[in-house]
Amino acid sequence: MRVRKFLFSFSTQTSFYLTVRPRCAHLRRQGFSCNTPIFSTRRTLSSLARTFGSGPEAKKMPGKFIIDCDAGVDDAMALLMAIDAHKRQEIEILAITAVNGNTQVDKVLINIFRTLDAGGCPDIPVHRGSESALIMTPKDAEGYHGSDGFNDVQFGTTPDVTRVQEEGAVLAICRHVRENPGEVTLVALGPLTNVALAFKLCPDITSQIKEMFIMGGNCEGVGNVSMSAEFNFYVDPEAAFVVLNKNNCPTYIATWELCYKYCKVDMDWRLNCLGKIDTPQAKMMNALEKVWYDNYSFHPDHFIMCDQLAMAAALDVRVMTKTKRHWATIELSGLHTKGLMVMEQRHAICNGPKFNSNVTIIERVDEMALKNLLLRAFSQTNETD
Ligand code: BDR
Ligand code: CA
Repeated sequence: MRVRKFLFSFSTQTSFYLTVRPRCAHLRRQGFSCNTPIFSTRRTLSSLARTFGSGPEAKKMPGKFIIDCDAGVDDAMALLMAIDAHKRQEIEILAITAVNGNTQVDKVLINIFRTLDAGGCPDIPVHRGSESALIMTPKDAEGYHGSDGFNDVQFGTTPDVTRVQEEGAVLAICRHVRENPGEVTLVALGPLTNVALAFKLCPDITSQIKEMFIMGGNCEGVGNVSMSAEFNFYVDPEAAFVVLNKNNCPTYIATWELCYKYCKVDMDWRLNCLGKIDTPQAKMMNALEKVWYDNYSFHPDHFIMCDQLAMAAALDVRVMTKTKRHWATIELSGLHTKGLMVMEQRHAICNGPKFNSNVTIIERVDEMALKNLLLRAFSQTNETD
């Protein structure tokens, strides 16, 4: 590998960009073309030192992750990606926290445990979180992933849910962040109820979280659950409002438009490449998604991923090939727009001296890097298999 281009940009992001492109043949064989940066990101000097090595810090420490989710079929695939990285000791999953969303929170717990079992990490701590939104839980939002969040697939076994921790999700988030100041990556894949409650209960953690990756919201006003709102922000708009208005750490958002419009992985690859892997986790995901493929009409050639994109970005910064910083908030009262993410885009304001961003929108992802993360997550064999 050679460092081909250093691009320092202090104008809009105050930190700097570094782009490293591959030269070695084996990297090309892994699917990186010469034009695909294997590393292109906004970094601080200390994070670069950790990545490339300098003195005693040379070995990269596994990042500490908390994953808040409403599992959910795509949540499950995102969890498998994280479980794989955990087994490789690239990250340490401190906790998985369950929230109401795709289904009721107790069913979310079952789905999380089923995923942990399939992924071969049954002992990762799981915490029960909020069973409803902060103010009003919409009645029309459930059912996109069946009545149980896992497309009502019959598995013939029920995972042991007595493993759930006594400590609730919100307290667990606060405790882990306080015990590991500046080290925790929080990945939020469902409605932001637990995270908002944690921010309200322990406001000090907002500046102690290392970074947040959120799947939710929209950047072009296109909705999925309503004409203008994305599911996670629609289910608990007040929570999304709290999180975006109180956050105090780098916050990356994978929006609905990124998922359905700008990330275009072929359905053929899903079915005939990823779909042919024969491991417990791959079989579980194939069973969960089969219901959709059998009745697929929305973008039939295109495998739409949501939570997987936020997780991929959290696991590997190289996945984010284009990002843009914004100030964003949530519409709370619109007749047709409740839950819409609203972004400041006025040129004069955005380029003015007082402009302050609170989110980084992920505009494009490296599909090859994303596929690699999925392939390895599906392929990894468990020691007990
Ligand atoms: C989001 O909504 C949920 O149904 C998915 O799990 C994902 O988090 C996409 O809008
Ligand atoms: Ca989700």
